[in-house]
Parts: sequence; structure tokens; C-alpha cells
Amino acid sequence: MSQIRLMKPYLGFDEVEAEVREIFDSGIFTRGQHVQAFADEIAGYTGARHAFLATSATTALWVALKAVGVGAGDEVIVSDFSFPASANVVEDLGAVPVFADVDPSTYNMDPAALEALIGPRTRAVIFVDALGNPTGVTRISELCRDRGVPLIEDAACAIGSAENGRRCGSIADLSCFSFHPRKLISTGEGGAITTDNADWADWLTVKLAHGAHGMKGVGLDFVDYGYNFRLPELSALMGRKQLARLDDIVADRNRVRRAYIEQLVPLGFVPQAVGDDVTYNVQSMVFTVPEGVDRDNLILRLRGTVETTIGTYALSSGTYFLDKYHTPQPVAARLEATTITFPCFDGVDVDAVADAVQAALGG
Ligand SMILES: Cc1ncc(COP(=O)(O)O)c(C=O)c1O
Repeated sequence: MSQIRLMKPYLGFDEVEAEVREIFDSGIFTRGQHVQAFADEIAGYTGARHAFLATSATTALWVALKAVGVGAGDEVIVSDFSFPASANVVEDLGAVPVFADVDPSTYNMDPAALEALIGPRTRAVIFVDALGNPTGVTRISELCRDRGVPLIEDAACAIGSAENGRRCGSIADLSCFSFHPRKLISTGEGGAITTDNADWADWLTVKLAHGAHGMKGVGLDFVDYGYNFRLPELSALMGRKQLARLDDIVADRNRVRRAYIEQLVPLGFVPQAVGDDVTYNVQSMVFTVPEGVDRDNLILRLRGTVETTIGTYALSSGTYFLDKYHTPQPVAARLEATTITFPCFDGVDVDAVADAVQAALGG
């Protein structure tokens, strides 16, 4: 039997074949109808006023930090349980990532930790929807508004998630998404930024077009210097197809989640907790392992049968950030050591995974 993989894409070649041919026939590989439509559809789906495409969540986060004016010497408070990109972008701008510990059940930024860390040098806050879970983002958003600090939501994993009836992308001041293959929408690599703020939207419009705005004679008028983080037409087409089915994909992943909870909770696994008024997209099916179980050993024992991985990383405990800042956060560190991600996709055989887990624990 072949290994059960962590993720399979929600897109088949048949679904795009005709349009791929059209793109090749037209010769328009960038800045075509699919790019514009995908950006508009992301705005429409999330409820944000403005949406911009990017090459990844990393470039989206980087440019979002630039938009709010983060630079050398500023502090940016970052959820500690995430993929390192959330803090790398801060570091790259010469700012200081200040790591906020997380709630042990939701894995998301602890509001008390945030309050204790906000100070005169805080220029922005990056809240991470850990593994797609938006629980608590609304409270953090209110807190940031009260303190006059812009909130950037690292919603890399969270397309399709919502809290209190508002979808990720329309809650924080700026939100950044990823379309990497481990996400619910995959364009190979890709990302997006959403915002309601007209000033940041104007700035992004110019900056993401190499600094061009309007015409000067028959050429472009380069009113600023800028960047190119454009998503190609083929990728935008792939994104559009999945976005059109996103709510079904979210519903499917929640069915898989319920099946996992039924099978693994009796064995002592504890699922990531989700708030009452939350739509969770289940980007990753993550549990804390039972008391006394060696997580690394479990992953190694399952190898070859079931592909698993750790939940995600305690950023402040990674070698680079630990050596530089010496600010390890205890809850995130414990979660990095005790969480495990199981396969989650349309049609995954949860019974087979549970049997393999039981065998690995018993053997
Ligand atoms: C929370 C989080 N932020 C940022 C990223 C980076 O996303 P990308 O690979 O699109 O740059 C990831 C990738 O997994 C992530 O999980």
C-alpha cells in the first residue's frame, strides 16, 4: 500500500484544460483577464474593498509591512507559533520581531501577551491564523485599534475561514494569503493581500506596478519606485477554479476533521480548539499527542504508511531568532514539540490513518 499523503490538490487538469489552451492561443501569460478577475473575486469572497495578487504570502507580508511604514528600528509583534516567514519579513526590513506567546488550545496569539508587549516602538502587529484557525483575531483587532497599531493578519493558511460572520481578509487592517500547495487554494506558488484602507490600496496599486501610475505622453509615468510580485495568468486561472468551490472544500475538510476527532480523541489526542462563532477551513488537521507519547517517534513510526509532520514552529526557538533575541516562548515551544499534522484531503481514508496510529502507539 502506498503512503497516505498529507495533502492532495483540489484541482484536476480537466477543469482547466480548455482555458489553458485559450491562454496559450492568446499568448497572454500575464496581466490578462484571469489575473484581474482573480483579484476581484478574492475581494468579493472575503468582503474586502481591495485585493492584490502576489507571488507568495511571504512577498505579500513583506509588502504589507512596507505599506504601513515598518522600517529599521521598529518593533513588530508576531504570533510565535507559525512558519518562519511571518517573522523573516520583519527581520528583512531591519525591524525587530517581538514574539508573542500563544494560547495552548487555539495556538493563536494570546491577547494578554500582546498587551504586555505593545510599547512606544511597536509599529505593527502580525496575528497568525495558526493552521487556518482565525479564533481570536477579532479581539486582537479591537485591541490593536484601541492602541492605534495596524494589524496585519498572516492569513497564509486561512482562506475560507471566518470569525463572527466576517471572513478572513476583511477583519484586520491588511490580510495576507498563501496559495502554496499545502493550502486550500493552490496556484503552485502565489499569494494575495486584502485591505479596506484606501491609502494603503493606492500605495499598493502603484508599488506593485513598478511605481507606475497613469501615462506620461505615450509611455508610463513612473511616479515612484516599485516592485514586481505579479502572479501569472495560468496561476490566476488555477486560483479562480478553486475559489469558486471554496465553501465546498471547507465543508469537506470539516467532515474529515469530525471523523478524525471521533477516531483519535478516544486515543488521547487533543484537537486544536476553535471558537464558537468560527468557520474553520481546517488547513491542517493538527492534534496534540497524548500525554507521554513521543511525538517525533510517532512521526517516524508512521513514515511509509501515513505522511505526517509537526504542527508548526515556535519562531522564537528557531536557531537564528533564538541566537539573536534570546526570547523563547514556552507555550509555542511546547506546541512545536507535541503537535502532529495528519493527512486531510477529499477522500482521505481516516480509518486507515487511525489504524496506523493505533499500531504505531501499540508497537
Ligand atoms: C503562517 C504562514 N505564513 C506565511 C507562510 C509563507 O507562505 P508562502 O509559502 O506563500 O510564502 C506560510 C507557509 O506555509 C505560513 O504557514
